[in-house]
Amino acid sequence: MTPESLMELALKAAINSPLQNIRPNPRVGAALQTADGQVAVAAHEKYGSAHAEQKLVSDCLQKGWNLKGARIAVTLEPCNHFGKTPPCSKLLVKEGFSEVYIGAQDPNSKSQGGAEYLSNCGIKVVSQVLRDQCVDLNYEWLWAHKNKRPFIRIKMATSLDGRWTAEKNSENRFITSQVARQYAMGDREKAQIVITGAQTILDDKPAYTVRNLSSGEVGKVQPACWVLTRQGIDAEFVNSEKAFVKPAKFQNIECPVLNNSTTQYLKWDFKKDLFEKMYQQHELYSVMVESGPELTQKFLEHDLFDEVVVYLNSSFLGGTKSRHFKDPFGEGFVPGKKLIISSIKQLSSEDIVIRLAKP
Ligand SMILES: NC(=O)c1ccc[n+]([C@@H]2O[C@H](COP(=O)([O-])OP(=O)(O)OC[C@H]3O[C@@H](n4cnc5c(N)ncnc54)[C@H](OP(=O)(O)O)[C@@H]3O)[C@@H](O)[C@H]2O)c1
Repeated sequence: MTPESLMELALKAAINSPLQNIRPNPRVGAALQTADGQVAVAAHEKYGSAHAEQKLVSDCLQKGWNLKGARIAVTLEPCNHFGKTPPCSKLLVKEGFSEVYIGAQDPNSKSQGGAEYLSNCGIKVVSQVLRDQCVDLNYEWLWAHKNKRPFIRIKMATSLDGRWTAEKNSENRFITSQVARQYAMGDREKAQIVITGAQTILDDKPAYTVRNLSSGEVGKVQPACWVLTRQGIDAEFVNSEKAFVKPAKFQNIECPVLNNSTTQYLKWDFKKDLFEKMYQQHELYSVMVESGPELTQKFLEHDLFDEVVVYLNSSFLGGTKSRHFKDPFGEGFVPGKKLIISSIKQLSSEDIVIRLAKP
């Protein structure tokens, strides 16, 4: 098999692995071919348990396979440190692999260096095999370890006349079509935490689950939720018992996200170091902001974002409900600031999605 076809098998295994058990680790798959042509595939399946390479090697040894001279493809550079498990790089050397194909490079300063170690031990290392697919697999995780804080994605949906909310009595309470809302679930699934505001909870009674909107089936991977409210506890107490106490204003409100045991209620000064701390202490690597214009504006003003995803619907909603941002923007905001359009996709006859990144 070619390095690419082995990597395709590794990628497939990683995509099918149970992310809900793996977080905050990345998805990783591995595939090998022995010198006499036998092929095997494995993935990392649980946080704290064997890495993909370790699982694959141990499966093969149990079957009595000889791995001397085997070639292996791994979607992420083999780790080079003693963490919850011993280094994969040393294992590959010990078992006598002849070639190692790597998809994405490990940006994590604690575990990186596997490729260099393998190379120094005389193993042929080929890097960047199907790199783009391997990076996409764990985009936010890779980004966070490089930048030492979680990737922050802001989602916003507007009508052509800039409305963020439909009138209560309108036929459809949503801004976008079901196709667009289903598409947005893809980004929600990548987030460990969805952040929203109190007003959005009161107005929309959202669930913020990853689900199939036609069948109602709920996905296995679900984000937790932070509800921002000045009635909440100081954000420095995130993950402490205090942060789970429901403020009085929500006591008699029927709303799915308020019944979720992982929902926390926070007040916050919008300082970035909250996210740096969450990365360092809890390995938080991916966040999604799904709030109304008031909070979204605050995230933009405080430069607390890495991608903005705009859903634009072809309707003119009219009415008096919330519209785009208020003037003036806060003092951190630079007038004239422009983002770069990284992609535009038409989702239906009435919706497009525009992805914007920082220059
Ligand atoms: N189209 C879209 O993409 C989209 C997405 C979500 C929501 N929406 C719509 O947006 C509307 C609500 O928008 P909005 O702009 O009024 O509300 P919002 O952005 O959801 O949140 C505003 C809330 O943020 C809280 N807040 C403000 N500063 C805070 C701080 N320093 N710390 C903690 N919390 C703070 C306040 O809660 P307290 O008042 O409790 O202090 C305030 O009510 C809804 O009608 C909803 O339908 C649209």
